Amino acid sequence: MTSQTLTEALPYLDPELPIAARVADLLDRMTVEEKIGQMLQLDARDDLDDHVLGKHVGSILHTSPERILRANELTSQTRLRIPLLVAEDCIHGHSFWPGATIYPTQLGMAATWDAALVEKVARATAIEVAATGVHWTFSPVLCIARDLRWGRIDETFGEDPFLIGELAAAMVRGYQGEGLDDPTAILATAKHFAGYSETQGGRDASEADISRRKLRSWFLPPFERVAREGCRTFMLGYQTTDGVPITVNDWLLSDVLRGEWGYTGTLITDWDNVGRMVWEQHVQPDYAHASAAAVSAGNDMVMNTPGFFEGALEAVANGLLAEDAFDDAVARILTLKFELGLFENPRLPQADLDAVVGSAVHAELNLETARRSIVLLENDGLLPLDASAPLKVAVVGPLADDAQTQLGDWAGGSGQAGWLDGQPREMITTVLDGLVGVDGWSVTHARGADILTLEEDPRGAKFPDGQPRPSVVVPSAPDETMIAEAVAAAEASDVVVAVVGDRIELIGEGRSTATLELIGGQNALLDALIATGKPVVVVLLASKPLVLPASVSRAAAVIWAANPGMQGGRALAEIISGAVEPSGRLPISFARHVGQQPTYYNQIRGQHGDRYADLTQSPAWAFGEGLSYSTVSYADLAVVSDSLGVDDTVEADVTVTNTGSRPVRETVQVYVRDAVTSVSWADRELKAYRQVDLAPGESARVRLAVPVAECSIVDAAGVRRVEAGAFELLVGPSSRDEVLLSAPFTVV
Ligand code: NOJ
Repeated sequence: MTSQTLTEALPYLDPELPIAARVADLLDRMTVEEKIGQMLQLDARDDLDDHVLGKHVGSILHTSPERILRANELTSQTRLRIPLLVAEDCIHGHSFWPGATIYPTQLGMAATWDAALVEKVARATAIEVAATGVHWTFSPVLCIARDLRWGRIDETFGEDPFLIGELAAAMVRGYQGEGLDDPTAILATAKHFAGYSETQGGRDASEADISRRKLRSWFLPPFERVAREGCRTFMLGYQTTDGVPITVNDWLLSDVLRGEWGYTGTLITDWDNVGRMVWEQHVQPDYAHASAAAVSAGNDMVMNTPGFFEGALEAVANGLLAEDAFDDAVARILTLKFELGLFENPRLPQADLDAVVGSAVHAELNLETARRSIVLLENDGLLPLDASAPLKVAVVGPLADDAQTQLGDWAGGSGQAGWLDGQPREMITTVLDGLVGVDGWSVTHARGADILTLEEDPRGAKFPDGQPRPSVVVPSAPDETMIAEAVAAAEASDVVVAVVGDRIELIGEGRSTATLELIGGQNALLDALIATGKPVVVVLLASKPLVLPASVSRAAAVIWAANPGMQGGRALAEIISGAVEPSGRLPISFARHVGQQPTYYNQIRGQHGDRYADLTQSPAWAFGEGLSYSTVSYADLAVVSDSLGVDDTVEADVTVTNTGSRPVRETVQVYVRDAVTSVSWADRELKAYRQVDLAPGESARVRLAVPVAECSIVDAAGVRRVEAGAFELLVGPSSRDEVLLSAPFTVV
């Protein structure tokens, strides 16, 4: 058949027919080459013409604005004119689209603990993404943060499975909107299924030493939730577990995901997972075997393994795969395309996209998200500063005015896409910009320290799969002249705002860190500033929890702002100047020392003692912590009924009072402790939380609810169940045991 013979009369082109009939008709017309190509997603920066015309790809990723149009021209030259799925990593905004709104990173968003807000961010992102002709985002990340040395902590929602599930489900709803026929809906991706974050020593994509029971206990529940709630695609991780690459892990893919959870969505591998089984993990002898194994294990789309095309064809020729082995996967991919309506409208970049991308409405939402993501960790009472006083403020530090670093990974300049260096400077408010904007303050600025320089890795600029090999980081030595300038600025001012943290070269895939300390001249700078005796506000712009030097115990205040996105500097200035109340809460614990890893709060009971000989085990700041400019008390926790069945809900009330003089948004956290479990289990786990706004002096009786079915453990046989007996409901402002009120209840 030639493309000229394609008419509206062909059943698969008839929008009136049911999707299943259109899929069946199209599948029938496809050659085995076309089916294999349909399963392939290739990098649009490579030979796009060959991808579409030679390999018949079903999807492309990393597509610059121009290449989307070119790709569409190419598909119109193909025999069946099957539209492409265009995919991109739009993980905190439309990462690589020039002028798009870049929000705080996922970890920053998690600090809001606000699912409704996260849903709004995802909706707004989908609107921008859809307007540009991209149909599929590789977001959200549902990995649990474990070892803070891992380079991708910033992409997670932190360390707690319940919070991850709440926020991930919200994000999926936001992306997918009212349904795929909504022109502003994009496909969401739950990634990286599953266990990728259980690294060894924080090393990216290392073997995840993790049992099935452990997976079921903590790693799988957020994925199960979004699978059941209709997340349309899942991406596999890179790791092997128990020797088996996730790409061919039958148990996880078939038994658990598709079997137990009834998942009917589409599976995509991570980047070159199929090839990596050959050249990196050495568990497949060649591409024919690797391709056959990946297809047999139920993968639908193969990301960036160009050799899959020939490999799968060879597998058919060798009898490793039957000719119809691709049909289920291809049917799932085509179904997505029909549901998105791409055959009728390939959803190319819209004419009015400039009005949508980076709009003022989205900037406002971004500002609100940034404000809510900022966590006040310490405050000796200095903050908020008096905005009406003519303060002299020294804004120092290497990150005070570093616009692109403030955006974090997976944003304009982070390196994954080659077609832009960064986002437009004028869209970004740095901390310096923000503080300069406070009326009546006079602001001076000194950089004070450098962080690092780079040297090319002597082994070359690329890995064997073509991914860029990170350069080697060389920490900068403290520079006495720069420090002296910063100290002079500090001494001439009323207050110092020191902005320190990490840079993109210390964040991301293949960029795990061995240490958690501030790199380069930053510790020496902080020591010198604090030694001046001037009040110092430390603003930590850090992709992940870092370890601060001992001198910071004498700082007046410490604020963590993750990578707070384009509006981050303005949000920080508003909080420092008291225009906005701080309300963020940690979605992840901060270590005091890298050797404390892992520091997550929900660890398993049972060890000798509770400290190292040379250091406490307690984190510097724990999951759930965060200060307000007010004080809050908790009292009179009472469960409505203290004897419950498995189908009941534990209900309780607690009185929360704003005992200070400023308004507060308090995150009331509810943990559950199971007194005796048949197998060892976490001491306490977050099961619910509520955010309440209280005026100064105001008190509220807050109703809390936890279904008993959620008070479960995973038993020795790997079965999740509620075990009858004694429990405690723990309620308070953070995960720290000493601040939680307790009320007993029994499950009968
Ligand atoms: C590899 C990363 O692990 C994954 O998260 C990302 O979506 C793909 N590359 C595509 O960029």
